[in-house]
Amino acid sequence: MNRFTDKVVLVTGAARGIGLAIARLFANEGATVVPTDVNESALEASYSGVDGFLPLSHDVSSPESWDRVMKAVGERAGGLDVMVNNAGITHGGTVRDTGIDDIRRVFGVNFEGVLLGIQAGVAAMKEKGGAIVNVSSIAASVAAPELAAYGSAKAAVSQLSRTAAIECARAGYPVRINTIHPGFTDTGMVDDLLDRLEDRAPPFAAQILKSIPLGRLARPEEIAKPVLFLASDEASYLTGTELVVDGGYTAV
Ligand code: NAI
Repeated sequence: MNRFTDKVVLVTGAARGIGLAIARLFANEGATVVPTDVNESALEASYSGVDGFLPLSHDVSSPESWDRVMKAVGERAGGLDVMVNNAGITHGGTVRDTGIDDIRRVFGVNFEGVLLGIQAGVAAMKEKGGAIVNVSSIAASVAAPELAAYGSAKAAVSQLSRTAAIECARAGYPVRINTIHPGFTDTGMVDDLLDRLEDRAPPFAAQILKSIPLGRLARPEEIAKPVLFLASDEASYLTGTELVVDGGYTAV
């Protein structure tokens, strides 16, 4: 299919996991994809020699890095039609044991990174139109006691997205902004989390699986497809909304 032929799509945090699946899916639909990531070697390993991609080194928490990336997108891809703010990091810690540096690091990437991405995306697309999809999490609405900083940052992303969506609509900018809320997805992020839990990992993993009505983690492609839907013309009347993709986890 070619639903994104002649479109330019920027995906942050696209060196692996959900971002990689999103980048590949848009490319399969005919888009020119700009995958960006702070991990240059992983970016190189995923895209080197593959046609249809313009990979760029990028730290989403840095305004200067955004300036450089958006300049390159304009010069090398000729504009932007879709922005997917996907880059994110986790931090395991309760409210009691999360330090101010941890909070700042997590909010720097997961919240400020999305804020800068929305600002850059709206500036690039406010005349000719486009779509922004921000990757939040079920942790935005369900309290996970071990993920205090992460869940708080994701909740802030949801409100930021709604606010930006209304701001664009009222300003008459043809830019739709929505969030997607994945449940537990089989990526390096979950592997890293389990590694950090060490001997607590097996009971944690068993408990997670028991809590998912579909009985398994999502595959990254199962998150990428709804992201593509939100960015497509099929979602032309969707803005300021949230799409939960969690195998039924939050419906219980
Ligand atoms: P991942 O850890 O596999 O991939 C995240 C990517 O973001 C990595 O390639 C990493 O290098 C990149 N990244 C980290 N900091 C960055 C920065 N400052 N600038 C640019 N890139 C940066 O994670 P995964 O699972 O693919 O997650 C993608 C998104 O989905 C994240 O926002 C995450 O919070 C969200 N999510 C993931 C879930 C899961 O169960 N895996 C569940 C719900 C949401």
